[in-house]
Amino acid sequence: MAKPSLLTFFSLLVASTLAADPDMLQDICVADLNSAVKVNGFACKPAAEVTEADFFFQGLAKPGATNTTMGSLVTAANVEKIPGLNTLGVSMSRVDYAPGGLNPPHTHPRATEIVFVLDGTLDVGFITTANKLITKTITKGDVFVFPRGLVHFQKNNGDVPAAALAAFNSQFPGTQSIAATLFAATQPVPDIVLSKAFQIGTRDVKKIKSRLAPKK
Ligand code: GLV
Ligand code: MN
Repeated sequence: MAKPSLLTFFSLLVASTLAADPDMLQDICVADLNSAVKVNGFACKPAAEVTEADFFFQGLAKPGATNTTMGSLVTAANVEKIPGLNTLGVSMSRVDYAPGGLNPPHTHPRATEIVFVLDGTLDVGFITTANKLITKTITKGDVFVFPRGLVHFQKNNGDVPAAALAAFNSQFPGTQSIAATLFAATQPVPDIVLSKAFQIGTRDVKKIKSRLAPKK
């Protein structure tokens, strides 16, 4: 058999580094969320303790309360809620939007997202690393994709509530909400960094920080 070329080796390497969550090595590895053992993901709980409850979740059945600052609520169905997802490389969320509600610009460092509109109409978009906005108005029954790591948002510009289901190719996609990440981090990003980055005065930086500070 011919030896694999250097090119084949590097293509395989690139393919594996571009994959989402690592592949599983056993049928199931239900997360022991309380284990002190730190691994990439969660340690498996003993097989004898696994039940159907580890693979079941009803938290997406009903609309989430959208009386939030942004007028939207994301309800996650990830490994923290469904321990049986550990090592399986998938998860979901439900997003509910009040009329005018916004799921503000955010990224998922570990997953591509695909959304299905359950109800209403959404203006959605993501921005590529070339700073190109890819945007569309999507409505009940439509599907849209947000590639892994890219900043994206959804806005309900309708005058009725909207809802969407999202699926991810990670058990735990992670979310960085851009405004909160920069202006509400603990500990705070220095005012001077934000002032220079956004080309605004530190007074405006402080104003944004105080508005985005977590509610006590
Ligand atoms: C929507 O963008 C979500 O992350 O649930
Ligand atoms: Mn998202």
